[in-house]
This record gives sequence, C-alpha cells and structure tokens, in this order.
Amino acid sequence: MVTIEICIGSSCYVRGANKVVECVNAWIEQFEWEQQVKVKGAFCMGLCSQGLGVKINGQPISGLGLHNMETILLPLIRQALV
Ligand code: FES
Repeated sequence: MVTIEICIGSSCYVRGANKVVECVNAWIEQFEWEQQVKVKGAFCMGLCSQGLGVKINGQPISGLGLHNMETILLPLIRQALV
C-alpha cells in the first residue's frame, strides 16, 4: 500500500492543494489503484517553502506545484508502487 499525504494547511490550500487531491484521486480511478494507494489529508508539514506539501510513504516531495504534477508526482507514485 502506498500512502500519499497531501497537506491541506492554509499555505498549501491557497496554492491549490485541493487540485492535488482531485488530481491524485483521478489517477487512482484512471489507473485502478484503489486497492494500492491511500490518500490522507495532513496539516502543515513544513514544506511550504519547497512547494505544495506532499509525502509519499512518509518521504517529502520537494518542488511540487500544480504545473508539474504529471512530471514529478505521477512518476514517484508509480515508482512507489513497484
Ligand atoms: S501549509 Fe502545506 S506544507 Fe505548510
């Protein structure tokens, strides 16, 4: 099971954290990851200065923004699933 924590703290929220949640949920449906990927909301992870706060299996992702979700986050989720 891959756990994705998505920060919904105020700084991330105003920068589009809800879009991250929507995007990840859409991938879960598209790729049929329902049994393999769990999404959790989280409060501030102290990652605000590095981009949107997201962790995969406890590992922080740096430099994440709405513009690079498909090039950074999607490959990391796929990698975690292997
Ligand atoms: S508010 Fe999201 S990491 Fe700080």
